[in-house]
Formats: sequence, structure tokens, C-alpha cells
Amino acid sequence: MAPVDWQEAWKAGTTPWDGGASPPALRRLLAEDRVPRGWAFVPGCGAGYDLATLAHVDREVVGLDLSSDARDAFLEACSNLPGQVTYEVGDFFAYDPPHRFDFVWDYTFFCALEPQQRAPWAAVMSRLVRPNGMLATLLFPYVDPIPDGEGPPWPINTDLVRGFIEDAFELLEVTEAEHTHPGREGKERLALWRRKAG
Ligand SMILES: C[S@@+](CC[C@H](N)C(=O)[O-])C[C@H]1O[C@@H](n2cnc3c(N)ncnc32)[C@H](O)[C@@H]1O
Repeated sequence: MAPVDWQEAWKAGTTPWDGGASPPALRRLLAEDRVPRGWAFVPGCGAGYDLATLAHVDREVVGLDLSSDARDAFLEACSNLPGQVTYEVGDFFAYDPPHRFDFVWDYTFFCALEPQQRAPWAAVMSRLVRPNGMLATLLFPYVDPIPDGEGPPWPINTDLVRGFIEDAFELLEVTEAEHTHPGREGKERLALWRRKAG
């Protein structure tokens, strides 16, 4: 299967991954006050629901996506958010902001990447999350063991992600998402990782 042309998909409005809202697991993490304040980053943020959900007076939220159409969708739907929310258009693999992030949220970004992009994904994440900062990966579609097959979305699980990031991140916990978007029941695990200080 050819890799997805993301900009074309957004232009054509072919966005079957778009759940129309943030996943309940992110809302729950916020309700439990477990999302660090400060700089938050959402790579591959699509229509930006998670930027709006993370928006808070004590947070500077940055979203990044390849598609300016995705950004337009966000700008049309969201205004007057609390705190500072910025949506940048660009390539995650070339992203080099002047500061590090306290919190990074990955939902359906890792699973959307081609397998050969996973090691670069890990290298960029290691660079972007500050020491002791948190990386939260809501793993979907969670499958164990991983079957042969094509993506995106590529089937993923904790061990797969851990294999790429264990030098830089310590796994804090993994929990099955109690509530999900329709059709994703039982297929989401929230894995929280702490950036090692060294
Ligand atoms: C499967 S979609 C998920 C979007 C969003 N996270 C959601 O849950 O609705 C993957 C997103 O990643 C974006 N993307 C893919 N490769 C990217 C890259 N190298 N840099 C930035 N964004 C990228 C795509 O444009 C697309 O919006």
C-alpha cells in the first residue's frame, strides 16, 4: 500500500480517522488533574480537538500538522480558548522549537506513521520532551500480539512503542481506556511515559 498523502486527504475531506472530538481518555486525564501545566504539544493534531481540550490559562498549547486545511478546520471551529493555543503547519520530523515541552500527547499519530518513521519519531520525542516531562500515548489500535498487516492505522502495543523509546523514557503506567470513540472499544490503552533526566 502506498503511504498516505496527508495533505491530499485533508484537501479531499477524506479523514476517516476523525472522531469529531477529543477521546474520553484525554478528558479523564485532565479531570484527574494529571496533565502537567506549562508547555503542551500535540503532533499530528488534525482538526485540533485535543488542543481545545488541553487549553487552560496555565498552559501554552502547541499543535502541529502537515496540513493547512486541517489548521483551517481548527480555526473555524475553535476560538476564544483559554491560555495560549498555537497551531503550526509543518513536518514533525523537522520540528525544532526554541523550548522543550512539559507534556506531549500522541493520539493516532504514531499509528499513522510508516514503520520506518518510528525510530525517527522516538528521536524527535526524546528531543522535544523536557527531562522529567511526560509523554502520553493513547495507543490505538491496540493489538497484542501484533498481526501481519498494513496500515495506517498500523496495529500497535506498549512493547512496540517501548522498544523505540526505552533509552529515553520510563514507562509509568498503562491502562485500558474505559470509554472511547464509538467503534474503538477495547482497542485503546493509555501509556504514560516519563522522560529520563539523563
Ligand atoms: C490519523 S491522523 C490523526 C489526527 C488527529 N490526531 C486525530 O486524532 O484526529 C494523522 C495526522 O497526522 C498528520 N501528519 C502525518 N505525518 C505528519 C508529519 N510528518 N508531521 C506533521 N503531521 C503529520 C496528518 O496530516 C494527520 O492529520
